[in-house]
Amino acid sequence: MPKQEVTSGTQKKLLRVAKQALRHAHAPYSKFRVGAAILLSNGKIFSGCNVENASYGMTNCAERTAIFSAVAALGPKIEIRALSVVNDQGVPCSPCGACRQVIYEFGPDAIVFFQGAEGLKQAHITQLLPEGFRLQ
Ligand code: THU
Repeated sequence: MPKQEVTSGTQKKLLRVAKQALRHAHAPYSKFRVGAAILLSNGKIFSGCNVENASYGMTNCAERTAIFSAVAALGPKIEIRALSVVNDQGVPCSPCGACRQVIYEFGPDAIVFFQGAEGLKQAHITQLLPEGFRLQ
């Protein structure tokens, strides 16, 4: 199977894990709870939720929480194969620009699953972030 393909079973699992994760969200300001899950190339799955702050700009999105948890647990040599993001309102929600850049750092070949205007969508990270920034 080509590296970038993810089975529908794995996709369902990632969505399920992301849904579970949003229950831990700290979103008293926006009331918009978000969960994310990442599948690494070693098969491990990590999840995260959005964590807001009274100083709004300090908010951490669910996607970055999941990625930073994985780095904290395993170190920086992780590779993200796939990421899912869900919200508690069932509305369209794709990763923000900042998260796209962070996904790209650890998953230049990652597939991203998210809610689009017409249901679940899937996109390669480079479709979401053309010309992502890299040092070296
Ligand atoms: N949020 C995420 O966690 N991920 C996204 O993909 C979009 C936005 C969060 C940030 C903030 O806590 C709330 O959603 C409203 O913007």
